[in-house]
Amino acid sequence: MAQTQEALIPTKDAFSRKAHVKSLEDYQRLYQRSIQQPEAFWSEMAEQLTWFHKPDAIMDLDAEQVDFSWFGGGKLNAAYNCIDRHATERPGKVAIIWAKNEPGEYESITYRDLQHHVGRVANVLKAHGVRKGDRVCIYLPMVPELAYTMLACARIGAVHSVVFAGFSSEALRERILDSGAKVLITANEGPRGPKFVPTKAIADEAVEGLSLVESILVVRRTGKEVPMLAGRDYWLDAEMAKHRGVCPAEWMDSEDPLFILYTSGSTGKPKGVLHTTGGYLVYAATTFRYVFDIQPEDVYFCAADLGWVTGHSYILYGPLMNGTTTVMFESTPTFPDAGRLWRVVDDLKATILYTAPTALRSLIKEGDAWVKKSSRQSLRLLGSVGEPINPEVWRWYHDVVGEGRCPVVDTWWQTETGGILIAPLPGATPTKPGSATLPFFGVEPVLVDDEGRVIEGNGVSGNLCLARSWPGQARTLYGHHQRFKETYYARFPNLYFTGDGCRRDEDGYYWITGRVDDVLNVSGHRLGTAEVESALVAHEAVAEAAVVGFPHDLKGTGVCAFVTVKPDWQESASEQMVGALKEQVRHVIGPIATPDRVVLVNGLPKTRSGKILRRMLRKIASGEVENLGDASTLADPSVLDELLAKATPPQ
Ligand code: PRX
Repeated sequence: MAQTQEALIPTKDAFSRKAHVKSLEDYQRLYQRSIQQPEAFWSEMAEQLTWFHKPDAIMDLDAEQVDFSWFGGGKLNAAYNCIDRHATERPGKVAIIWAKNEPGEYESITYRDLQHHVGRVANVLKAHGVRKGDRVCIYLPMVPELAYTMLACARIGAVHSVVFAGFSSEALRERILDSGAKVLITANEGPRGPKFVPTKAIADEAVEGLSLVESILVVRRTGKEVPMLAGRDYWLDAEMAKHRGVCPAEWMDSEDPLFILYTSGSTGKPKGVLHTTGGYLVYAATTFRYVFDIQPEDVYFCAADLGWVTGHSYILYGPLMNGTTTVMFESTPTFPDAGRLWRVVDDLKATILYTAPTALRSLIKEGDAWVKKSSRQSLRLLGSVGEPINPEVWRWYHDVVGEGRCPVVDTWWQTETGGILIAPLPGATPTKPGSATLPFFGVEPVLVDDEGRVIEGNGVSGNLCLARSWPGQARTLYGHHQRFKETYYARFPNLYFTGDGCRRDEDGYYWITGRVDDVLNVSGHRLGTAEVESALVAHEAVAEAAVVGFPHDLKGTGVCAFVTVKPDWQESASEQMVGALKEQVRHVIGPIATPDRVVLVNGLPKTRSGKILRRMLRKIASGEVENLGDASTLADPSVLDELLAKATPPQ
C-alpha cells in the first residue's frame, strides 16, 4: 500500500483551477451518476451535438443478440457537427493545421475552408455514383484530402473505410473486397520521412482485375506522373474544380454506419470494425473534451495517422466536433532528426501532444539534448496511447518533455471501443507512472479469471472485460455479426472481452499488462500472429510457421517467426531464405508486420495431438529458457535442443 501511495503524482493546481473537472471528488460524483443514471447522463452529453431530430430513446440494449442501439430515432450528420456549426459561428478559426513532411512547412485550413473543400469532394463523390450507405475506401497519406474525403463521405451518408497507407496491395485488396467499396481514393505518392510511398502503384495492384471499383480518385500530392486509366482514374483536384462547395448534409439515423476500420484479431482475416453515427460521435466528443480538458484556445497535436482509430477519434471527429484546432502530421518523429516533434510543437505553439510510447522510446534513445534545445512552453498536457507505457518512459515524458508542469494522460482503449475507456482526467485524477488509472464516465471495467468468475476487490489481476455498453462501442464486424458475437461476447457471457490482461491495484487503479490472446502490439500497431503465419505459409518454400512476440526495447513487442521449410527447399534454408521470408511478410501485409527474427528449424514443438506449444516458443524467443514447461508433452522432444540452440536471442 505504502508503495502505491508513494508513486501517486498529485494533480497540478494551476491546471485543475481551469479544468472542466477540478478534483477527484468531482470525478467520482460524475462517475457515480454516469453509472447509476446512464440515460440522464448520456442524454445530457448528447446535447453538445446538433441534432436534426432529437433522439426518442437513449439506449436500447439486447444482450442476447449483442445488438446495441444508442440515441435511437435521432437524426444527425457527422460532417455537419464537425464543420457547419463552427463555420457559421467562427468561420476564420483554424480547423486543421497540416504539418507537411518537409520541416517548417505548414498549411492552415479554417472551418470555412473546410466546409468548402468537403462540400466539393462530397459533390465529386455523388457525381461518381456514391450514395447513402455505399462504401468508399480511402488509401491516402496524411494529406488534408484525407480529412476532406472522410468528412465528405459522412456528409452524404457514405461509409468510409480508411486503410493505413503503409499496408501492402494485398492487404488493401482484401479490405476493398470485404467492404465492397466502389470508389477508391489514393494519391500519386506519399512522402513520409526520407521516403515516398508509391500509393497509386499499390492501389493499381490492389484493384487489378476487380470490377467492383468503378472510380479511383487520385490526390496530386507531388509532381510525380503516374499512369491514369481512362474512364477509371481521375485527378481529385480536377474533379473538385467542376463542383460547387455547397452540398446538403444527409440526415442520418443515429444507428446508420459512419465508418468501417479494419483491425487485427487472433484469427487470420482482419476484422471490419463498424461504428455508427450518434453514439460514436457523442462518445468521441465527450471523451475528447474531458480527457484532454479541451479549451477554446488549444492547438491540439496528435502525432498519429488518420489510418488508425486514434486518428479517426482524436485527430478528426473528437477535435472537430469540439471546434478545436487539430494538427495533421505528415512526417515521422525522427525526420529529419529526433527534434522534429518539438519543432512542430514550438512552430505551432501546440498546447497538447498525444503520441505513442513507441515514438517516445525512439526519442529517448537519441538523448535529452533534442528535447532540451526546444522551448515547449506552449505545452500544457501530454497524452499516451496504443500500448502500455513503461514507468521510466512515463517519467521521461513527464519530467523532461513536460518539465514536471504538464499532466500526463495514459489513455487505454481499442479500435472496437471507439473512444478512450480508461484514463485520468488531467485536472482531477492523481496519476501513477504506467497506469491508465480510472474508468471514464459510464465505463465499468470488470476483471475475470480464466474460468469466467468475476474477481472482486483491489490488489487483483485478471482478464479485462466491460460490464455494460457505452455509446462509442462498435456495433458489429461488417457483414460478420456472428464473428462479432463470438469474438467479444462468447468467452465471458454478457461481458465484452477486450483481449487484454489487467491488474487493479490497492487504490483501484488499472494497469494494462498487454494482450492475453494471439494478438501482438508491435510499435503500438495491432498484429494477429495468425495473419503473419498465413503470410509466411503462402511462400512456396514454407511448410509450417508459428509466430510469437518477444520483448523489444523500441517496439514494445517484436515479431519472431519459427519456420519449417518443405523438404525440397531444405538445401537452400539459409540467410538468404530468412531475408526472402521477411520480404514475403512485408509484401503480403506491409512493413509494420516484418518479423524481427525468422528462425528456420527442422521441427516445431507440438503435443501428440499436433497442437503447437506457443507458450514454449514465446519463452524461447524471450530468452526465458529456464522454465520451459514439461518437455515430455512434446511429440518429438528432440526439437527442443535445436530450438534452444538456434533461437535464444543474441545477448
Ligand atoms: O492491448 C491494448 C493496447 O492496444 C490495443 C488496442 O489496439 P488498437 O485497436 O489498434 O487501438 C490502439 C489505439 C487505441 C489494446 O487492446 N493499448 C491501447 N492503449 C493502451 C494499450 N495498452 C496499454 N495502455 C494503453 N494506454
